[in-house]
Amino acid sequence: MVEVTDYTAAGWTVPANPDERSRGYCARLEEGQILFFAGIPYELPAADRDLLIGVRQTSAAYHKNISYRPREDRIHGLDRASADADRLRAIMNAYSRNVTAFAADFLRPYAPGWKLDFASFRSIEERGRDLPLKQRNDLLHTDAFPTRPTNGNRILRVFTNLNPSEPRVWLTGEPFDVIAPRLASDAGLADHAAKARSSLRPISRLPGRVGSALGLPVPDRSPYDSFMLGFHDYLKANRAFQEAPGKSRWEFPPNSTWIVFTDSVPHAVLSGRLALEHTYIISEEDLVLPEKSPRHVLEKLAGTSLRN
Ligand SMILES: [Fe+2]
Repeated sequence: MVEVTDYTAAGWTVPANPDERSRGYCARLEEGQILFFAGIPYELPAADRDLLIGVRQTSAAYHKNISYRPREDRIHGLDRASADADRLRAIMNAYSRNVTAFAADFLRPYAPGWKLDFASFRSIEERGRDLPLKQRNDLLHTDAFPTRPTNGNRILRVFTNLNPSEPRVWLTGEPFDVIAPRLASDAGLADHAAKARSSLRPISRLPGRVGSALGLPVPDRSPYDSFMLGFHDYLKANRAFQEAPGKSRWEFPPNSTWIVFTDSVPHAVLSGRLALEHTYIISEEDLVLPEKSPRHVLEKLAGTSLRN
């Protein structure tokens, strides 16, 4: 983990070459490091924070984690029409804009080509959640989105622990370029590579295209995305991987913030509630260390392109 202490106006915007420093932070992220901030490096009004953490658990709005889609300015995850909905949407809108403005300046190489993905407010205690294996957050995994394939672009996430008294506790494992050579074959890389090479591939994907023609939301999943989705499940189900030594345990204290590529850093959330999170899809072309990217690592192992 890399602790960042120089992101305030005095330390960050003044230096002679902020672009170079920014590239350095991008490189740390792409190597599989977590960038850690002891505070909240973007504007979060106290009234917004208090409303998020202070609403009673009985409120319908807080029975689920809330997701926010910045490009549509829409909230999802409320159980039913809630009196809180408009306020929550406004708070998440402001959060999205503020954290994005910070990240765009702090990680300059990424901002021109990134895509704003979803944001979320995670109000549910992570410890002891009763979830099916694939949805469990307390097992180490790398992220892949079933409905939003990236075709090799990267999943970057900014987290803030809003809990006023308790840390958010994570485990992390060795990054993708270290574990993939050991595990990708067992996770079925050869099958995905064979499909990628196969001349039958367009036909095998016909149902997706028919679905699209009918207006159904069918993702156009590349061999890369299929592998990464399977790898997410494979890691969670792999007892030997889960129990192997060499994991790091992190306690992110109240009001701290951290940034990480969750598609390459295996992570598990052991406990914590009340966190904000924003996801960005980083274009492969903007990576500082492209040879570390999961697609590059997998293609080298498989000997074939895995993109659409
Ligand atoms: Fe995750």
